[in-house]
Amino acid sequence: RGMAVPAGASLLVMPWLVHRHETLWEQPGHFRPERFLPDRRERIDRFAFLPFGAGPRVCIGASFAMQEGVIALAALLRHLRFDFAGVRAPRPVQKITVQPEGGLPMRVSRR
Ligand code: HEM
Repeated sequence: RGMAVPAGASLLVMPWLVHRHETLWEQPGHFRPERFLPDRRERIDRFAFLPFGAGPRVCIGASFAMQEGVIALAALLRHLRFDFAGVRAPRPVQKITVQPEGGLPMRVSRR
């Protein structure tokens, strides 16, 4: 805020940092999915949460990806239970997309 940007400068937007910035989020380091409940979602600034980017080059698959994710999860969780089976908490690593280092071992059982 209030910073001069020289003409011709390149700006990089880091969603990882934006999504954890203390001026934008309450308890930025906490996992609180209820932030996104329908009655609270409206209060989130359009540029504070950008998993699909923003502006003219925004992801064209965003709606599809959200629907597909919910449908796939619902189909799996209806019949199966997933329990974390790793030895230590997963660590995020940057590999074009952010991924859990060494994968996310799960124990799968029938519900
Ligand atoms: C969870 C899944 C996905 C995530 C997190 C994601 C994220 C992104 C991001 C961050 C961008 C760059 C936006 C920007 O430059 O500001 C992008 C672009 C794009 N995405 Fe996705 N995406 C996802 C799924 C999909 C799917 C399912 C499709 C196609 C069916 C898709 C098609 C595209 C295309 C074509 C672009 C380039 C748009 C352009 O440059 O004009 N994405 N996506």
